Amino acid sequence: MGRLDGKVALIVGGGADGPPNPGETLSIGNGRATAIMCAREGAAVMVADKNPTLAHETASAIRAEEGRADSVAADVSKEDDCRRAVEETERRFGKLNLLVNNVGIAVGRSLLNTTIDEFNLMYEVNLRSHFLMMRYALPEIVKAGGGAIVNVSSVAAILAGSGIAYEATKAALLGLSRSVAVRHARDNVRVNTILPGLINSSMVRREIGDREERVAPRIPMGRQGTPWEIAKAIVFLLSDDASYITGIQLIVDGGITAGEGMRRRSTQSSSG
Ligand SMILES: NC(=O)c1ccc[n+]([C@@H]2O[C@H](COP(=O)([O-])OP(=O)(O)OC[C@H]3O[C@@H](n4cnc5c(N)ncnc54)[C@H](O)[C@@H]3O)[C@@H](O)[C@H]2O)c1
Repeated sequence: MGRLDGKVALIVGGGADGPPNPGETLSIGNGRATAIMCAREGAAVMVADKNPTLAHETASAIRAEEGRADSVAADVSKEDDCRRAVEETERRFGKLNLLVNNVGIAVGRSLLNTTIDEFNLMYEVNLRSHFLMMRYALPEIVKAGGGAIVNVSSVAAILAGSGIAYEATKAALLGLSRSVAVRHARDNVRVNTILPGLINSSMVRREIGDREERVAPRIPMGRQGTPWEIAKAIVFLLSDDASYITGIQLIVDGGITAGEGMRRRSTQSSSG
């Protein structure tokens, strides 16, 4: 018996845009791992992505292991696409219980090196899209008797060093989630935020490449996280195991925020 049996989940940004790890055929990112793990826990999964091929790949991987999944093309910086992603989920699976907003991009750098166009793009893709997705999904989740939403932020919401627009949008997402969590707690909808640390995901392999050797010494646990470790935390928050948890910010970072943050190199050995 799965923890999400009988539920319908919409995973937004459920493709994986980047090269696979050496030796793997399917690229895995936070969104794709979450979609696959939701299906393994019994949910029917709609994968939404602006890239239909990537969304289709995720849905195919789920069906290949006997799960239920379909895909929809949706660029969530566009309001109509957000509405359509919800409508298509209902048309295909009859209801909506769970929403994961995983879309996030990293454009721009410091205050003086980020253009206004870059900042506007970041606002549309990293923040407004989550507002829109929740705006369209929430009434349907309530109609289905309640459910849960997880928004994917980052430790960049609380630590500097990743670029001003990324940090600002990821921080604003905490407020967005908290607001919906409190306002809709009595509608039986839980809303939580995940703050991943340094994860070896498709996004990172695309943007940065293999950074394991460079960043591992800065992480108290001595390694990057995997997308599966993010997916497990998301599935927990979506499931009834988290039935009394709403409005929280769950950090999944191998100890980065408890330690020295992302910028400084650890100077202590494990016995130091
Ligand atoms: N990897 C890390 O170290 C790390 C750390 C903290 C937070 N995160 C967060 O994790 C999330 C991404 O993780 P991932 O591994 O799944 O990355 P990814 O880039 O591989 O996957 C995200 C998917 O979103 C899709 N997408 C991008 N823009 C879209 C749009 N406008 N509309 C619809 N789909 C769109 C992409 O096509 C892609 O398939 C982001 O929110 C990111 O900020 C990652």
